[in-house]
Amino acid sequence: MNFLDLVKKRYSVRSYEERQIENEKMEYIMECVRLAPSAVNFQPWHFYVVTDSERLDALKSTYKREWIQSAPCIIVACANHEESWHRRSDNKDHADIDLAIAIEHLCLAAAEQGLGTCWVCNFDAALCHEVMAMPENVEPIALIPIGYTPDAEVPEKKRKTIEDICTYL
Ligand SMILES: Cc1cc2nc3c(=O)[nH]c(=O)nc-3n(C[C@H](O)[C@H](O)[C@H](O)COP(=O)(O)O)c2cc1C
Repeated sequence: MNFLDLVKKRYSVRSYEERQIENEKMEYIMECVRLAPSAVNFQPWHFYVVTDSERLDALKSTYKREWIQSAPCIIVACANHEESWHRRSDNKDHADIDLAIAIEHLCLAAAEQGLGTCWVCNFDAALCHEVMAMPENVEPIALIPIGYTPDAEVPEKKRKTIEDICTYL
């Protein structure tokens, strides 16, 4: 599978099978996350891989959509703002950018391994912080439900055209 095929294969999965993910697959995916680039290589991140049923239920309560209930595992992608690079000229915090790169490594690696994922940012971050008993300086950036998907067909990608998004000068 070339990179374009992999990009086309990944889509937001909102329905999962109960089946647990094999340890080797999860380790492979997290290795792809670990190798992601970050500003000044500060790697200001932490990932909680949650499968414990009690914790998983508590985590699911932070996102009020029925479909999340089917996820057998949720990865909580977190940023540590004390570890992230802040640009000297304007103090811009690059944690969100670093996390976005690592999370997309996660989603693409999962797709390659035949697993579905979905970025979820519309969750209650304060409640998630509490449920996960996170340190003060750590922020949950996204929930990534992950698992096998019952869907066979990849939905059509609705995107702007190349002309809309790209200018060659
Ligand atoms: C930063 C970010 C946040 C997102 N948050 C949510 C979310 O809270 N709930 C949800 O169902 N999908 C969420 N999505 C998924 C997008 O809706 C989805 O990626 C987009 O519609 C394109 O569809 P595709 O992923 O199937 O290609 C999010 C995606 C990104 C990149």
